[in-house]
Amino acid sequence: MMNPLIYGLTNSKGGVGKTTIAVHLAAWLAQQKRRVAFIDADPQQSASTWIKELGLPIELYQLAKPEEIFQRVTKLATVAHDIVMDGPAGLSTTTRAIMLKADRVFLPCGPSILDLRALTKAVALLKEAQKARKGKLTGALIPNRLQKRGRLSRDVVKAAERTGLPVLTGITLRQSFADAAGQASVVWKMGILSRAAAFEMESLLEEMTSD
Ligand SMILES: Nc1ncnc2c1ncn2[C@@H]1O[C@H](COP(=O)(O)OP(=O)(O)O)[C@@H](O)[C@H]1O
Ligand SMILES: [Mg+2]
Repeated sequence: MMNPLIYGLTNSKGGVGKTTIAVHLAAWLAQQKRRVAFIDADPQQSASTWIKELGLPIELYQLAKPEEIFQRVTKLATVAHDIVMDGPAGLSTTTRAIMLKADRVFLPCGPSILDLRALTKAVALLKEAQKARKGKLTGALIPNRLQKRGRLSRDVVKAAERTGLPVLTGITLRQSFADAAGQASVVWKMGILSRAAAFEMESLLEEMTSD
């Protein structure tokens, strides 16, 4: 069997959309009949409740210690099709462990210049991990809470370019994204009022999972 793809959602900041995107990614992959393992590495465990309530066949692990993440991911790598890791806020050894085990790390962030500046340390940690992984780790920024999809102000685009990381199209600020966890659902199952959110999320997930 092929090695699984291992995804990590991290950032130094909380509230940027790590959990929202990680849970949607896991649900989307599980719906494609893939064997998905989800590692909730945030002690707040907000993803865990949501994953359980989704009722999809996603294997859930709550692991906040770096050694546990290393061991579990190494074991899962022989059986899972995909592994999704939802990180805690901050640049702890847990965040570092995620970066050292993932194949693809995504840093969701807000759309303002201050959000971009706040990314500096997370980007530096990611670059360090990329060096240690010798080309086996890719990284990308995911702009979240955009006013218009794909639309960043010129100074924000410049700041994003300075990180040297690719910038995905991102998702806009929408009530449906905020409501999904409370409804124990994902945006493409939330009916007609969430159609625009579903379109955005699915195209983001396609970007995140394509080669
Ligand atoms: N694009 C968005 N539009 C509206 N609300 C959002 C969006 N992305 C995230 N949220 C909400 O913002 C809060 C923080 O998101 P969350 O995914 O928990 O971030 P993190 O895991 O980085 O702390 C949650 O209440 C979530 O529902
Ligand atoms: Mg979270």
